[in-house]
Amino acid sequence: MQSHDDPLLQPYQLKHLRLKNRIMSTSHEPAYSEDGMPKQRYRLYHAEKAKGGIALTMTAGSAVVSRESPPAFGNLHAYKDEIVPWLRELADDCHEQGAAVMIQLTHLGRRTSWNKADWLPVISASPIREPAHRAFPKEAEDWDIERIIRDYASAAERMQAAGLDGIEFEAYGHLMDGFWSPATNKREDEYGGSLDNRLRFTWAVIDAVREAVGPDFIVGIRMVADEDWEKGLSKQEGVEIARQIAASGKFDFLNIIRGHIDTDAALNEVIPIQGMRSSPHLDFAGEVRRETKFPVFHAARIADVATARHAVAEGKLDMVGMTRAHIADPHIVRKIMAGEEHLIRPCVGATYCLDRIYEGGEALCIHNAATGRESSMPHVISKASQSKSVIVIGAGPAGLEAARVAASARRQSAR
Ligand SMILES: Cc1cc2nc3c(=O)[nH]c(=O)nc-3n(C[C@H](O)[C@H](O)[C@H](O)COP(=O)(O)O)c2cc1C
Ligand code: SF4
Repeated sequence: MQSHDDPLLQPYQLKHLRLKNRIMSTSHEPAYSEDGMPKQRYRLYHAEKAKGGIALTMTAGSAVVSRESPPAFGNLHAYKDEIVPWLRELADDCHEQGAAVMIQLTHLGRRTSWNKADWLPVISASPIREPAHRAFPKEAEDWDIERIIRDYASAAERMQAAGLDGIEFEAYGHLMDGFWSPATNKREDEYGGSLDNRLRFTWAVIDAVREAVGPDFIVGIRMVADEDWEKGLSKQEGVEIARQIAASGKFDFLNIIRGHIDTDAALNEVIPIQGMRSSPHLDFAGEVRRETKFPVFHAARIADVATARHAVAEGKLDMVGMTRAHIADPHIVRKIMAGEEHLIRPCVGATYCLDRIYEGGEALCIHNAATGRESSMPHVISKASQSKSVIVIGAGPAGLEAARVAASARRQSAR
């Protein structure tokens, strides 16, 4: 397929922002932060995707807006002013390569642990424990809610000051959607009960954020539109929330999630792993796009270019998230453009990357040793100045990698 015919390579206009193609990396915390800041390692990791041709990289994963939302997995501290220059440097490097940069903001709600950071009480809509992180949250009181709304607004202001192209709110398994879901909201005040009441916090947050950043800054929401859970948010209510958000004129895109993440088994349905069905929620995201007639982004095991192309060609998505696919190979778009799809290093879905943020404190990829090590290990092997004969002894992972690197240096020098 020629580049000019490829649906994936067509630009996308989001408000004033022209995204150069349809491929993005959705927000994911690789736990490369240092003291809660996106320093060199974080920057080089995103800059590599930008070099590889991606249109939009959504940074952080759950950057926390409040001090009392203790970071659970290396989350960035969006509540600190010192984050601004670090993010500006990251954004500048990506912009230089023509990639847009946004960030995900959140209050983790009950999805964190009681013994992290300052040991402040974990807060949620209702005091219902999350099995995965195991804290017993305190029900958010009026003054908590007011403070957190202000925190969202000032974090958004910081992100705008850093020169980012936009932000998205995280609304699945965290505080914001904790108010939406009947599984986590048992309140009897004006924040519980009817859907209008359960959405009250969301409207207050977006109003405060709009007041802080103005109407032009891009603000989206990564939201669950069906918890697929007996006691949770139904598809009917979830799609209704999407409809109301789209119609409100306050948001610029929806990034659709299906499922719930309070246990590891449930999380696997949202972030499907090896051996599970490919792109299981793509049709659902397409339904939401049809219902809302609003820009829709989505990621969930769209790991190969053919499926991503299908998602755009069939009008299911505006922007396709290929997130772990870019952890495995940050140069996907460049290879598509060069007619080298067959050289893309595939993500197999082992999800070692995600497991490692908890167990090893950093995301690493079983298929690509250079990911997260950009400062010392190149993704693209530079041309050898001189040909050499190399004999590799041993065909374990290290030997095979040595042979691959040697061969790719030779292949480049022969061009
Ligand atoms: C290491 C890692 C951390 C993640 N952290 C977040 C997060 O903080 N917020 C979020 O919305 N999604 C997070 N995700 C989910 C991804 O954004 C994405 O939805 C998921 O990987 C499925 O898309 P994929 O199949 O294209 O990888 C994370 C994923 C990974 C691999
Ligand atoms: S560790 Fe596995 S799932 Fe994660 S990016 Fe690498 S190949 Fe994909």
